[in-house]
Amino acid sequence: MIDKKIAKLVNEQVNKELYSAYLYLDFANYYADEGLDGFAHWYEIQAQEERDHAMMMRRYLIDNGIRVTFDAIAKPDKKYADTTAPLKAGFEHEQYVTSLINNIYNEAFAIKDFKTMQFLDWFIKEQGEEEKNAEDMIKKMELFGHDAKGLYALNQELAARVYTPSATGPAM
Ligand code: FEO
Repeated sequence: MIDKKIAKLVNEQVNKELYSAYLYLDFANYYADEGLDGFAHWYEIQAQEERDHAMMMRRYLIDNGIRVTFDAIAKPDKKYADTTAPLKAGFEHEQYVTSLINNIYNEAFAIKDFKTMQFLDWFIKEQGEEEKNAEDMIKKMELFGHDAKGLYALNQELAARVYTPSATGPAM
């Protein structure tokens, strides 16, 4: 059994991860509409990863005797001024998610909930990778995206992303 406050935070994070999946699908919708199918594909996979994160947290709660509850998932309501805008919004969003994960970790640390801290280790590392990926996408877009050939090549590169389930995550 884990502390009620920690359980509540992790349960809320399930919703945030599902929202992340929704947000990235919204990016994918935008890019599909812009004819950038590689970008759309990249974010479709990102959405799958976010769903995996939600499922890992859900499983952690269930395995610790917590009844998981679901809230409504917020509607992504962003308007994108240009094809770089979702990339920047994605980076900002990942920084926000990192702050949420760090906050849960901090609360677990405060009450010496070592089990939850160990569970969150995987997510701390994952957030580092996700922030780096998001930042790299912005850099590449700024370097190559303004030229038609560069944008084409970048779109092709992103189209090659392969989904790998996050089953290698924390032992539960
Ligand atoms: Fe679930 Fe993008 O962090």
